Amino acid sequence: MSENENNKSSNKMWGGRFGSGPDAIMEEINASIGFDKKLYAQDIEGSMAHAQMLADNGIISAEDRDKITHGLNTISSEIESGQFEFSRALEDIHMNIEARLRELIGPTAGRLHTARSRNDQVALDFRLWVKAELGKTAKLLEQLISAFVKRAEEHADTVMPGFTHLQTAQPVTFGHHCLAYVEMFYRDLSRVLDCIDRLDECPLGAAALAGTGFPIDRHQTAKALGFREPTRNSLDSVSDRDFAMEYLSLATICATHLSRLAEEIVIWSTPQFNFVKLSDSFSTGSSIMPQKKNPDAAELVRAKTGRINGAMVGLLTVMKGLPLAYSKDMQEDKEQVFDAANSLELALAAMAGMVADMHVNKDAMQKAAGSGFSTATDLADWLVREAGLPFRDAHHATGAAVALAEKQNIELHEIKLSELQEINSAITEDIYSVLTVQASVASRKSFGGTAPDNVREQIKYWKSKSWLSN
Ligand code: ARG
Repeated sequence: MSENENNKSSNKMWGGRFGSGPDAIMEEINASIGFDKKLYAQDIEGSMAHAQMLADNGIISAEDRDKITHGLNTISSEIESGQFEFSRALEDIHMNIEARLRELIGPTAGRLHTARSRNDQVALDFRLWVKAELGKTAKLLEQLISAFVKRAEEHADTVMPGFTHLQTAQPVTFGHHCLAYVEMFYRDLSRVLDCIDRLDECPLGAAALAGTGFPIDRHQTAKALGFREPTRNSLDSVSDRDFAMEYLSLATICATHLSRLAEEIVIWSTPQFNFVKLSDSFSTGSSIMPQKKNPDAAELVRAKTGRINGAMVGLLTVMKGLPLAYSKDMQEDKEQVFDAANSLELALAAMAGMVADMHVNKDAMQKAAGSGFSTATDLADWLVREAGLPFRDAHHATGAAVALAEKQNIELHEIKLSELQEINSAITEDIYSVLTVQASVASRKSFGGTAPDNVREQIKYWKSKSWLSN
C-alpha cells in the first residue's frame, strides 16, 4: 500500500473545502482499507445494483450505467487477480474502488454516488458480508450435527458413566451423550437462521441518514441484492449494527458449546479416562516426551472462545453511547467480526473433523460406567417399585448398601444377597437385574431419557431433517 501518497493535496473524494491533506497520523487512524478490502465483492455487487436502479429510474443514462458496470467488472478482476493497488490515502474500500473507476472510465464514475452515501454503502456491504458468513456458519453447524448423529447411531448401546459435578452419577449411553450436543448445536443453527431472517433488510438508499430527493427504487435494489425488503427507517439503516452484534452473540454461544465439548474431549483423551482416542490428523506429539499424543485441536477450539467473546465485548463497547445516526466509531465494527468469523469457522470445522474421526473406546467406557456405584439410583428405584418404600427411605437404605460395598471394596452387584437383605428384608434376587449398567440404561425410557431405544427414536427424528447429510 502506498503511504502518504496524497499527503500534500486534499482528498479528491471529499476534500473540496480542504486546503491541504491530512496529517500522516490522521491518515493512519482514519484508514480502514487494511481490513475493509475484505468487503470488495459486496461493495461492487451493491454498486452494480445501484447503477442499474439509477438507470432504470432515469437518474443516470443507460450508457453511463454500462460504462460503470464494465468498469466495476474490470476492478473486480483486478482485485481477484491481485493486481489492484490499494491506497491508504483513499481511506477505505469504497473510495479505493471509486477512484479506480474514475481512472478507468473518467468523470462518469462520479455519477455512481448519486443518491448514495458511504454510510448506507458500508451498512449494505457489511450486512451482505455477515449474511454470507451466516450461510457458511449454518453449513458448518450442519456438518458437525451430522457427524454427531452418525456417532450416536454407532453408539446407541454403548454405555458410559454420566456425570454431575464430574462425579460418576448414573450410567448413560454414549449415543445419548452425542445427541445432547446435537441439541446444543441445533439451537445454534436455529439462532443463525433467526439472525438471517432479522438482517434480511436492505439499507441501501438510506443515503447519509435522511434518505434522498432522487426518485430511487429501494425495493428494486433490495430485491436485486437478495434481501426480503428494504429497511423502513433511514436513520436506523445507517446506524444499526445489530446484525453484527447478533452474529457475535450467536457466535459466542456456539463457541461456548464448542469449548465445553473441547474440554470433554481433552478429559476423555487422557490415559486416565481413555474414553476416546483422537485420530493422528487431529493431534500432535511432544518434541521431548515421545509417549505423548496431545489434543491440540480441542485445546485450540477451547481457546478460540476467548477471541470470539472478546470480539463480542469489543463491538458492544464500540456501539454503546453512539447517538443516531452514523459515527466513525462504527468503522471499528469490522475487524472484530472478521476475526470472530475466522475463529468460529475454524473451530467448527476442526470439531466436526475430530468428532467424525475419533476412536471411541467402548471397553473403557463400559468399565467406567460400572464403577463408582453408578447404579445406586436403580437400587433405590427398585426398593420403591418392588418393596413399596417411600423414595427417601429407599435412598437411605441404598446409602447403607453403598457404604457396605465401599468398605468391602466391591461394586453394588457384588454384594451378597444376605447382606443386602440385612439392610432391607424385602430385597430379593431380582434386585441384581437392575444393578447392571445395561439394565440401568435400558430402563430409562422416559421421554428424553438415555435408553438405547430412545436414542434410536431420536436419531430417526434428526435424520428426517432434510439438511442432515448422511
Ligand atoms: N470506512 C467507513 C466505515 O467503515 C465508511 C463510512 C464512512 N462514512 C463517513 N461518513 N465518513 O464505517
